[in-house]
Amino acid sequence: MGNPLLQVEGLRKAFGKLPVLRGVSFSLNEGEVLGIIGASGTGKTTLLSCIIGFLKPEKGDVKYLMQKKRHKGSDTSVFRSVFKHKREFKDFFGFAAQTPSFYDKMTVWENLVYFGKLYRISGDTLKSNINTLLDLMSLSESKQVLARNLSGGMRRRLDIACALIHNPKLLILDEPTSDLDPLLREKIWALVRRINKAGTTILLSSHSVNDLERVCSRVALLEKGRIKEIGSPAELRERFSRGHKIILRTRDGNYEPLINKVARKFKRSILMKDVVEDHDGIVEAVFICNNPLELMNYIEERVEAQGDEIIELRLKNPSLDQAFLHE
Ligand SMILES: Nc1ncnc2c1ncn2[C@@H]1O[C@H](COP(=O)(O)OP(=O)(O)O)[C@@H](O)[C@H]1O
Ligand SMILES: [Mg+2]
Repeated sequence: MGNPLLQVEGLRKAFGKLPVLRGVSFSLNEGEVLGIIGASGTGKTTLLSCIIGFLKPEKGDVKYLMQKKRHKGSDTSVFRSVFKHKREFKDFFGFAAQTPSFYDKMTVWENLVYFGKLYRISGDTLKSNINTLLDLMSLSESKQVLARNLSGGMRRRLDIACALIHNPKLLILDEPTSDLDPLLREKIWALVRRINKAGTTILLSSHSVNDLERVCSRVALLEKGRIKEIGSPAELRERFSRGHKIILRTRDGNYEPLINKVARKFKRSILMKDVVEDHDGIVEAVFICNNPLELMNYIEERVEAQGDEIIELRLKNPSLDQAFLHE
């Protein structure tokens, strides 16, 4: 793994009385693809907005590695706060937000020229950057098409192209595959891998671990304002694969008292407990824990003691999404 390129240190951010980030720290290494994963509303966009210096956190800092060129001798690098060196940091990163930032009334080509000029790129350098990006994004054939006439997948690719126009060291993507169907999603992940292989470090967010597994070298789980877990997808899978899912359906469906009792008794081994309704409207209690047999015995006992009757009690391995995000 490469050296740290960006260091996020103890970020705290609240909106009014709502604390969203409660001390987020991690570092991003050169050359990696790091995925921030968290359920909807956990603060992924807030975190990325703080990292690019768009939102000011109440506490903490984000530092990026700046190469200092010397006239003679070797280059040196220093970590600098993005909040204190906004202008220099702007050239360092490219950002594609959840909603596109290009202009619908301009063509693909015009948008790329426009974004290039924002970064003070012009002439042959700009032309050559645009052609490289059109090729990488498979948009060459559509360069004269008005942005508003592009398909969903093409829009996403144009937005990523706009974020890469100045050839940044770091590309930040906020939920790059949301609202896309599985095939288009796969295409975006393939593209992300290609951009990374060409030398760009990538930080992205998503609400699906299963999606991120194929593209990220590391995944960080954001929960309740903190990074709860960070590691390679394989490491996290290993850590969570101990969890077994137990599904219970009873005649009366009175799950709350049982869940409270289970929570108290299995405090240490339970990863998740919830009442869920499936697609057919059937309400079930779902538990994910490390000692399933012990818990199943206990459930049987308790349901009986409640005077209820078990219709179904079964064991299943959870998907990573279920284990992480309590879906
Ligand atoms: N500008 C804002 N003003 C007030 N509340 C906000 C603002 N932006 C986000 N929030 C709240 O902060 C929380 C985290 O939001 P967000 O970072 O968008 O989550 P995510 O991107 O993970 O879905 C949510 O509860 C959201 O309603
Ligand atoms: Mg978001």
